[in-house]
Amino acid sequence: MSPNKGTNKKAPLSGANINEVLKQADTLLQAEDIFSSLSEWQEMMTKYNCAIREIRTKFEVLNDELSIISNRNPIHGIYSRIKNPRSIMEKLHRKGLELTMDNVRSEINDIAGVRVICDFADDIYEIADMLLKQDDIKLLSYKDYIRAPKANGYRSYHMIIETPVFFSEGKEMMKVEVQLRTIAMDFWASLEHELRYKKDLDKKTLAQISEDLLNCANTIADVDNQMMSIKDKLYPKFPD
Ligand code: GTP
Ligand code: MG
Repeated sequence: MSPNKGTNKKAPLSGANINEVLKQADTLLQAEDIFSSLSEWQEMMTKYNCAIREIRTKFEVLNDELSIISNRNPIHGIYSRIKNPRSIMEKLHRKGLELTMDNVRSEINDIAGVRVICDFADDIYEIADMLLKQDDIKLLSYKDYIRAPKANGYRSYHMIIETPVFFSEGKEMMKVEVQLRTIAMDFWASLEHELRYKKDLDKKTLAQISEDLLNCANTIADVDNQMMSIKDKLYPKFPD
């Protein structure tokens, strides 16, 4: 499949000579530009986009079905993104790996990312379980930052899954990173994320903000638990 054939403004480059081409790039921006003009690159990203669509649909179907069974929508929102070329290049560099298509495919697990925001914390495990029970989903790894939060207070449930996507020339197993968190955890993570981009903060302010964020994360976890108990009194449980 070459969905972008004919739409390339630049001549397609072969993946085999990526590093040769990149040697000519003076800046990261130029390298990123070269990378994203490769037809192989565009083809690969299209495939990841298709994988995202499949996973999003699976969550949407679960949400629709559960809303009929239980009279509520456990999923508040689904967000997805494709990792940009620069982040992929930087990640490979951090890992000390050469920039090749094979390395991108095998070493970067979060090119396709789907984030599922749930109303309640226990819905996260129910929804994750329901996805994993599907026979075309393979769990490669997971991190439970809800039962074991990070030192900074970060909470979320992460999975790297693999799912088949059918293309004209057959099926390909595609990796997708799925992050599940509550609305409150998501609110916290967005603000905490901002901190990474604030390079001009002095040490004392940074330490104070980090402490405040940790306190907020703990308060949020308490509130999530209380909301869950109220929900349990209002609605029936999902079927097993
Ligand atoms: P990368 O961070 O992508 O290199 O992956 P990793 O192998 O360390 O995986 P992990 O599952 O720990 O984190 C994956 C993603 O979760 C990150 O890229 C972020 O989107 C999110 N994440 C992890 N830790 C934090 C955190 O402390 N704060 C926030 N805001 N997001 C986090
Ligand atoms: Mg990531």
